[in-house]
Amino acid sequence: MPMIRECIVTTVGTNGQTHIAPLGLIEQDEFWVIAPFRPSTTLANLEAAPFATASFIDDVRIFAGCVCGRSDWPQEAVPGWPAARLTAALSHAELEVARNEPDQQRPRFFCRIRKIVSHKPFLGFNRAQSAVVEAAILATRLGMLPREKIDTELAYLQIAIDKTAGAAEREAWELVTAKIEAYLQTQSE
Ligand SMILES: Cc1cc2nc3c(=O)[nH]c(=O)nc-3n(C[C@H](O)[C@H](O)[C@H](O)COP(=O)(O)O)c2cc1C
Repeated sequence: MPMIRECIVTTVGTNGQTHIAPLGLIEQDEFWVIAPFRPSTTLANLEAAPFATASFIDDVRIFAGCVCGRSDWPQEAVPGWPAARLTAALSHAELEVARNEPDQQRPRFFCRIRKIVSHKPFLGFNRAQSAVVEAAILATRLGMLPREKIDTELAYLQIAIDKTAGAAEREAWELVTAKIEAYLQTQSE
């Protein structure tokens, strides 16, 4: 399996509006591949305008917020590049689509890395941050997973939250688990 980096991808629509989405960048040779499942605004934007900016963040409230419908995170213009980055980015990568592999379900956009720029220090791994990222991914796949798997995963991830979370991680965890619990509630009615 290839290495995948979880980040926030900014793309630009035909109306000039930016769109952000949490996505995994798949490493393949010299490319980072963006692979959005249909339907997707990121996909439509990349077909229309072949560039993106990846923001690498440690504020996991942004992953949690995005999967719960909050996308108004502060952005900064990137000099000489059309897709903005998140203000919270520790670093960002400017990505240019070199080629596109069409697919009915999940097209793949092979991106060349134009530039990587650092903004803030990376202060080490934190298990609670990883747990929030896992829960955020879970929250986007609820309809595909059996109830038991959701419960088991959440119980396991909760351990890292209890042991290692700071205030931001706890806030992100509350947000994303509230969404998951609301979904589970509708399933048991
Ligand atoms: C950490 C993380 C990684 C994700 N990676 C992908 C991905 O690689 N492909 C995908 O289609 N969705 C992925 N998702 C789900 C998308 O963020 C979500 O479906 C999003 O709304 C994309 O659709 P959009 O382009 O219409 O915004 C991921 C979610 C999270 C939290």
